[in-house]
Amino acid sequence: MVVAEAAIEFEKVQKTYELGKNRVSALRDVSLTVSKGEFLVIMGPSGSGKSTLLSLMGGLDQPTAGRCVVAGKRLDSLDDQELAHFRNRTVGFVFQAFNLIGDLTSWENVALPLYYAKVPLKKRKALATDALRRVGLGHRLAHSPNELSGGEQQRVAVARALVNEPEIVLADEPTGNLDTATGQEIVELLQAINARGTTLVVVTHNPAIAEKAQRVVQIVDGRLAA
Ligand SMILES: Nc1ncnc2c1ncn2[C@@H]1O[C@H](COP(=O)(O)OP(=O)(O)OP(=O)(O)O)[C@@H](O)[C@H]1O
Ligand SMILES: [Mg+2]
Repeated sequence: MVVAEAAIEFEKVQKTYELGKNRVSALRDVSLTVSKGEFLVIMGPSGSGKSTLLSLMGGLDQPTAGRCVVAGKRLDSLDDQELAHFRNRTVGFVFQAFNLIGDLTSWENVALPLYYAKVPLKKRKALATDALRRVGLGHRLAHSPNELSGGEQQRVAVARALVNEPEIVLADEPTGNLDTATGQEIVELLQAINARGTTLVVVTHNPAIAEKAQRVVQIVDGRLAA
């Protein structure tokens, strides 16, 4: 019997933000397992904790309590340097707002994670070019973000998420700033990445994306809904 290994294992995870005298419980006792190679969609109302959950999965932030195991690493016990290393090697992020650097060309944007991983320039350029070809942008290597359409900018962001060959890709409303047809192309791209074995977690309000997922979980007021 083959038991699917877990890519992500969260156990009773809590995240509380302290704002002066106010406490915001963004996540309350979230327990969730994502299998290797799974395509999971997270849905829920605005402010329910979706982005918070994704940022914990990617080691962008630490939980207030609970156990966060991602790709075999116990994230809640890593120090800042270990977390930075984890973010650089193990996960790829795609955000709603693309988050590209305006002064850099497409290939330079894609190559940034490799720069932080201390990959030499020649290899950075070769790997970034490969990643851009994979997302259909081999003809836009030297364009800067303001010379690209929204869909193309998001493709560059997807290429940047892939360039380190991460085990897990995390996307927070990746089609939120795109029209329906362009968003559909980005979803197909993410699906193709998942089909090659990469674990994919997508936060979305878009039912068309949810339809393509293997599993959809709802989060309401910081709790996973049954
Ligand atoms: N840095 C922060 N400091 C204080 N409160 C925060 C912080 N980040 C998020 N929150 C609060 O935590 C809750 C969950 O926020 P989160 O961004 O995870 O929601 P979301 O489900 O992603 O919402 P949306 O669909 O609008 O993106 C919200 O009430 C939010 O105001
Ligand atoms: Mg959000």
